[in-house]
Amino acid sequence: MFTGKGGVGKTTCSAATALHYAAEGPTLTISTDATPSLAHIFEVSDKQKPVQVLPNLYVNEIGEREIREMWDERFGREVYEVFSAFVDIDYESFVEFMTSVLPGLGEEFMVDYIREMSRKGIYENIVWDTAPLGQTLSLLETPALLGNHLKMAPRIYSKLKLGRRSREPVLDILKRWEELSARNMEFLQNEGDFTMVTIPEALAVEQLEGTFRELGKYGLSVKQIIINNVVKIEESLFLRTKARQQRHYLKHIHEKYSKLKIVELPMFPQEVKGLQKLREVEKILFP
Ligand SMILES: Nc1ncnc2c1ncn2[C@@H]1O[C@H](COP(=O)(O)OP(=O)(O)OP(=O)(O)O)[C@@H](O)[C@H]1O
Ligand SMILES: [Mg+2]
Repeated sequence: MFTGKGGVGKTTCSAATALHYAAEGPTLTISTDATPSLAHIFEVSDKQKPVQVLPNLYVNEIGEREIREMWDERFGREVYEVFSAFVDIDYESFVEFMTSVLPGLGEEFMVDYIREMSRKGIYENIVWDTAPLGQTLSLLETPALLGNHLKMAPRIYSKLKLGRRSREPVLDILKRWEELSARNMEFLQNEGDFTMVTIPEALAVEQLEGTFRELGKYGLSVKQIIINNVVKIEESLFLRTKARQQRHYLKHIHEKYSKLKIVELPMFPQEVKGLQKLREVEKILFP
């Protein structure tokens, strides 16, 4: 899992990492990005999903439609039955509400999807290019929050008159949902491997600490930090000035997170796009 603030290089690092693992066995890269950035960086345009980039490398960008389908398959109708007892809402709007308005529900289903893929064993490695930080954090909140909220729910339901509906199925559904949340969180804790991507600038470095705290709260540990866009060649006043400013933040990260593996990724003069550029990144991430 690659996480970090918007625009720091998550997709670039995810793609280069997937490329690396593809040499070892079937590898899937996935994201829930609204814009198909993985397809862009790998320069593939097939509509079919997952798209094959190389013999062992596949890309799957999960859109809202797929998230909705996943939700629909697992809980849609049943939970709708419960809700429609209280609220007058048609099924389509209900599913849209659940998958797009509830924070992180989409991501929770994404974890579920990854867990299922992992269970099926088709891929040896799955690289998840996550949404920018804020959304990722809501993902981490969701299972735990849902778990807590759902513990409250039976008490609420028990006070409501459900008419002809018996209480039991409602509680069953909530229980299943809660179990799903717990399983997904456990999966992330046991099988997830978090890499934090950052850049040597004030705001990004400030946000690091909060993210580490947040992840730690759920027992999710970050194994690696990638500091991207590091100026390594100081051939002009512009670059020297930039490098000098970065040194302060680099020192801070290295000191503060000295127990973690830290990789510095240089700032390239060109954007990183296409397999050839990605190989260069791969060589640095996996020396
Ligand atoms: N080390 C680098 N040197 C030069 N350009 C880079 C480097 N890393 C990333 N880029 C470029 O910066 C841009 C943003 O990178 P990327 O898309 O990987 O970030 P992101 O964290 O995935 O962004 P978002 O939060 O929008 O998903 C891209 O155009 C990419 O080519
Ligand atoms: Mg991205």
